[in-house]
Amino acid sequence: MEKEIDILSSVIQRRRSIFPPSYTKEEIPSAIIEQVLESANYAPTHKLTQPWRFIVYRNEGKHRLGEEMARLYKEMTPEEQFLQKKYDAIVDKFDQSSCVIALNAQFHPEILPEWEEIASFACAVQNMALTAEALKLGAYWSSPGTITELGEYMELAPNEKCFGLFYMGYHNEAPRLAKRTSMAQKVKWVED
Ligand SMILES: Cc1cc2nc3c(=O)[nH]c(=O)nc-3n(C[C@H](O)[C@H](O)[C@H](O)COP(=O)(O)O)c2cc1C
Repeated sequence: MEKEIDILSSVIQRRRSIFPPSYTKEEIPSAIIEQVLESANYAPTHKLTQPWRFIVYRNEGKHRLGEEMARLYKEMTPEEQFLQKKYDAIVDKFDQSSCVIALNAQFHPEILPEWEEIASFACAVQNMALTAEALKLGAYWSSPGTITELGEYMELAPNEKCFGLFYMGYHNEAPRLAKRTSMAQKVKWVED
């Protein structure tokens, strides 16, 4: 049997952002989406605030969110910079994905500073990304400027904020190596 650490390292290192043009349009069963979401719930969370809040968009709901994102792009882009191609590409991205998960965080300012909640929330999203990789799903975290305007559409509470969209789909992309500089440049050891 493969050692647990080898399996873990392999999933961590293999995980890549996989974008909708590589998705096959094969439907992800809801039980598999739930498995990805369940992993989020095991992220570390100071004071157990568990700040991750997700909305799963599929089928017609996903298509409608795509149209809303395209509409927001048009609304927020000066007329002379607007590109119909980009507008259409936004709608296509949603249609090409099997599901899109809104990545929302809930804040508890009376208990914790915002940064701790965002850190915990990002750990939850990484758990989802690693689980997606282990399930051979393509996924990526998208953070377009328009996400700041989604509160009303998603009916977010005043203490909730959208930090991105998590696109998912089965894919046909060949493995890609991560682009990273060496860890040695990023760590200092102090031993005496
Ligand atoms: C908070 C966050 C936001 C991101 N937003 C975007 C985005 O808007 N568009 C995009 O193409 N990639 C986005 N990414 C993915 C990064 O581009 C990607 O992680 C990076 O290129 C490294 O590639 P890898 O994920 O395959 O290792 C985001 C990643 C994070 C963590």
